[in-house]
Amino acid sequence: MKSLKFKNLELASPLMLSPMAGFTNLPFRAAVRSLGGLSIATTDLVNARSILELNYKAIRMISAAANDRPLGVQLFGANRGELRDAARFLEDLGIDLIDINMGCPSDKVNACGAGAALMQDEELTEELIAAIVNAVSIPVTVKMRLGWDEDSINAHLIAPRLEQMGVAAVAVHGRTRMQGYTGKVNLPAIREVVKSVKRIPVIGNGDVSTHLDAARMINEVGCSGVMVGRAALWNPFFFSQTLRYLQTGEEPREITLRQMMLFMHYHFAMMLHFYGEEDACRMFRTVIPGYSEHFSHKARWRVEMQHLETVDEYLEIVARLADAALDDECLRPRLEVGYLRELLGANGEV
Ligand SMILES: Cc1cc2nc3c(=O)[nH]c(=O)nc-3n(C[C@H](O)[C@H](O)[C@H](O)COP(=O)(O)O)c2cc1C
Repeated sequence: MKSLKFKNLELASPLMLSPMAGFTNLPFRAAVRSLGGLSIATTDLVNARSILELNYKAIRMISAAANDRPLGVQLFGANRGELRDAARFLEDLGIDLIDINMGCPSDKVNACGAGAALMQDEELTEELIAAIVNAVSIPVTVKMRLGWDEDSINAHLIAPRLEQMGVAAVAVHGRTRMQGYTGKVNLPAIREVVKSVKRIPVIGNGDVSTHLDAARMINEVGCSGVMVGRAALWNPFFFSQTLRYLQTGEEPREITLRQMMLFMHYHFAMMLHFYGEEDACRMFRTVIPGYSEHFSHKARWRVEMQHLETVDEYLEIVARLADAALDDECLRPRLEVGYLRELLGANGEV
């Protein structure tokens, strides 16, 4: 496997966690990282202006922790001064990388000229990116779509311009803005982006849900790395399994029900630690569907956790719904030192 660098930042793995608003918060990122295999993880998209205005939610979104490095903050905006100043502030905070969102399809974000709307205005894009790249010395990356719609695919035209301006890497979600999340990811179009640049890494993204999809993105599409979003929500072990496959060719072992449940407890503990009981319980309701895919009675898990408010309720639901075959450690979690390492397997391997 080739080594991978974003400017001076050396990456231990070509696998990255794709930003997903509402999901890729610090507790989730740190929990997934503890399983191994993941290099860069990125915050959810954050409005550059909100950071500068000390919006509490935005500041909380850029919180960093020692067990969550290297960390990228993903900014969105369409104002040169705001993006530049937010980038400087993030560099001062010690953030490892700044990623610029050029892929968000939401009407609200696009109406301000930000997200995927930037792909329609190449002049403004160049102005904004130049201002950010010239303001900081940490790597600046861009995550984009293929273009606005089928008739205006331009990622392969924008990428070489970004490279010239000093962008350290580009990630490409192989769909257009108009596709949203429908249809299949367009691998030949990602390939065109790979061919359009000279030196910088191109990171492939979209519909990677197995180790084989990731290997194809690297070996056939020619990407230097792979960014994975939704698959990580129902299989947080994806990165460790896939890195091992890429390094050794070893097929991933199936994740047991027990491992999944122990990891869920760990994730929940991280959420409680960071957000406190009220917020953690409310936010955990939205992540339960990913885990419940693996459990018997998955519909009941979703329904019962939908109104989760306290840790006691969580423990009570787990004890009631968990598969009868699971041992006590699953039903009554004990987060002792080395929890994941000891409980997931020898040497922490999964
Ligand atoms: C719930 C959700 C939230 C997302 N939020 C962001 C975001 O904040 N920034 C971003 O660049 N992409 C965002 N995306 C897009 C993902 O990062 C990724 O590009 C897309 O889901 C395709 O990759 P996947 O098939 O591996 O999920 C989001 C996707 C989902 C499903």
